Amino acid sequence: MSHNEILENLDNIVKQAICELQKINDHTAIEQWRVKYFGRKGLFADITSAIPHISPELRSETGKKINTAKKQLMQMFEEKLGFLKNKEASDTDVNFTIPGIIPDVPNLHPITLVSREIVGIFQKLGFGIHVGPEIETDFYNFEALNMPENHPARDMWDTFYLDEDRKLLLRTHTSPVQVRVMQKLSPPLRIIAIGKTFRRDAFDASHSPVFHQVEGLMVDKNITFSNLKAVLIFFLRELFGSRVRVRFLPSYFPFTEPSAEISISCVICGGKGCQTCGNAGWLEILGAGMVHPEVFRKSGLDCKNITGFAFGAGIERIAMLKYGIDDIRQFYLNDKRFIQQFG
Ligand code: PHE
Repeated sequence: MSHNEILENLDNIVKQAICELQKINDHTAIEQWRVKYFGRKGLFADITSAIPHISPELRSETGKKINTAKKQLMQMFEEKLGFLKNKEASDTDVNFTIPGIIPDVPNLHPITLVSREIVGIFQKLGFGIHVGPEIETDFYNFEALNMPENHPARDMWDTFYLDEDRKLLLRTHTSPVQVRVMQKLSPPLRIIAIGKTFRRDAFDASHSPVFHQVEGLMVDKNITFSNLKAVLIFFLRELFGSRVRVRFLPSYFPFTEPSAEISISCVICGGKGCQTCGNAGWLEILGAGMVHPEVFRKSGLDCKNITGFAFGAGIERIAMLKYGIDDIRQFYLNDKRFIQQFG
């Protein structure tokens, strides 16, 4: 082959290769194409082997032209290969005939279920729903609740502090929401607040460092302890059934005066005495009392003409009694087999 013949030949090979490559639609064809042009006995090997037979001055120029053409074709080949791979993936990945996967949606968590039930009961009584922050200041969690610095009653709540000065903490109860609501709104007030609370407690069958509380607050002219009793008895009978008996015993909280500890007749044994109630026949379920005048003052309310009551209860405890759960840790394990059983 002469120099000119080689170049003419090269031109034809390139045109033919491009034309063929454009029509290719599968992997077998593109492999055949590769072998035809770039295989050991392919057309490019053939044309390259003619170089030593032409005159020496033209060899390098001819070689360069062949190489440039080769590079151009190789690039087109890679692009086509990529295109074929993508096409194949999308052909196999989406198969519209496969039946859909039925999503495994468990029930709502028992804490959510009980919280919603509680909200429903208080909505019937016209209570509004409020929330407060989980990170609180010393003022709202203690000081405004009639526990100034160094007050011994602070020991009733083992506290997670968030800074060296002990000014920021994880709220140990939902009672700070009482203060926040009274600062914002004026009486008459009827509210509940549900949310997470935190205590430096052991993590065992009956304690958890994180749990939930429901707080209640009613403030108006002439609110008395009778109102507190009526609301709580209604609440507990809605929640545990109309046969449940409710007991009020004197207690102490710095932010209520007088204070009470409220128990219900054991939901397991009906009051005869069993393991759940420690043979007492009663289960303690709520703390409550009449709002202390100091709390009104700290919240910016004039306490001359108003009175109020407040209460607080643990949601986990209520859920455990309602559903017969004997270990609080069950709530936080995220075991679907557990959650599936309620609702
Ligand atoms: N905050 C109290 C506790 O966590 C409960 C309570 C609330 C008591 C409101 C009285 C009034 O133990």
